[in-house]
Amino acid sequence: MKVLIVGSGGREHALSWKISKSPLVKEIFVAPGNGGTELENSVINIDIHADDIDGLKQFALNEQIDLTIIGPENPLVNGIADKFEESGLRCFGPSKGAAQLEGSKEFMKDFLKKYNIPTAEYSVFTDSIKALDYVREKGCPIVIKADGLAAGKGVTIANNIDEAKEAIDLALESRIFGEAGRKIVIEEFLSGEEASFIVMTDGINAIPFPTSQDHKARDEMDKGPNTGGMGAYSPAPVVDSIVHKKIMQDVIYPTLKGLQEEGFKYIGFLYAGMMIDQNKNLKVLEFNCRFGDPETQPIMMRLESDLADLCFKACESDLSNQTLQWNEKKSLGVVIAAEGYPSNYEINKEIKNIPLEKNDLKVFHAGTRFQEDSLTSNGGRVMCVTALGSSIQSAQKKVYNAISEITYEDAFYRKDIGYRAIAREEEK
Ligand code: AMP
Ligand code: GLY
Repeated sequence: MKVLIVGSGGREHALSWKISKSPLVKEIFVAPGNGGTELENSVINIDIHADDIDGLKQFALNEQIDLTIIGPENPLVNGIADKFEESGLRCFGPSKGAAQLEGSKEFMKDFLKKYNIPTAEYSVFTDSIKALDYVREKGCPIVIKADGLAAGKGVTIANNIDEAKEAIDLALESRIFGEAGRKIVIEEFLSGEEASFIVMTDGINAIPFPTSQDHKARDEMDKGPNTGGMGAYSPAPVVDSIVHKKIMQDVIYPTLKGLQEEGFKYIGFLYAGMMIDQNKNLKVLEFNCRFGDPETQPIMMRLESDLADLCFKACESDLSNQTLQWNEKKSLGVVIAAEGYPSNYEINKEIKNIPLEKNDLKVFHAGTRFQEDSLTSNGGRVMCVTALGSSIQSAQKKVYNAISEITYEDAFYRKDIGYRAIAREEEK
């Protein structure tokens, strides 16, 4: 089969790497891909941007692509799956209607409320004075979120009224998120431990992937501004078998049922960002209509099943009776970002001495590209060094050893990825 993967990040490198291992797959195109996908066997980068839906569709038609897998949320929210379906192309990714679960926090919260799926109490505002009155009434800490897509940067946890006022004004008055911040959701602050719970679905059946936890904050101990994600590991020990069952029963199946009732087709990955408290009560923090980045990187290292076959079957509404095989080892990935990320950073810095792939180690590229023959940085998150180990701690050790070999003068990365899981391993 011929496969097209849309996107250019670490997630898309990990997906194309995994897909390239399938005996069913002859050729893989990545649009536009990165320096890492360029190096993979049977993978070809093509120069079409992930947001160029018509260009991608034309390419898929011309090349007679059998399966297209969409990595990032933007094209999904803009309706790429509907456009592909209209043209008779198999597309692994939810419809525009369903992708609103990620594209609009207001839609997502209203949907959760309607279908009785647990989430934080909330209210939606377009008026900054009313928003601030609500904050005064509810008290701090409180969470302020831009309604639309903001690349993981639209959420502020306000610890006092001044911080809340600033976040409200930046979104509603200064419009720092543009249209995405024309509305805001203000919600109850939840405490507990977070986990990423990702399933593959054909709209009816859901196959849970191994659980994971990512580190969204830039700085150690999860402090500092939110980023797209600075590292992740799998499995997330907070999701024990009781919690796992609850998430499937109270969140995943009711969500699929709700989508069916609303008439929104969902084929693809559904990602529930969960908050789990000490009593194993759970609430949905967010939905993503795609795989997580960087969660994909450690999870793909553990996956033993044929991903291409599964995605194809999902598109054929044929996921019943499918299960996953995965490696029981633990996995951990650390993102190397450019100094200054998530604010201003430089690109075009040379990167050398990337360790070669081994059974238990793989460097997934994100913001990299080849300029003539040298590999250079080309984004905020530059690569994700990922390893398998008998414990999270051993995987972490392998990752940091590998990082020490890499030459990239702008490298910025956290030194504590996986610390919660490692503390639990040490307790045991
Ligand atoms: P979101 O994009 O909604 O997942 O928010 C990004 C991050 O902000 C989450 O991963 C949490 O760490 C944090 N966050 C979001 N909503 C809440 C909440 N209601 N209570 C506490 N933390 C939150
Ligand atoms: N790692 C979080 C996300 O992909 O949204």
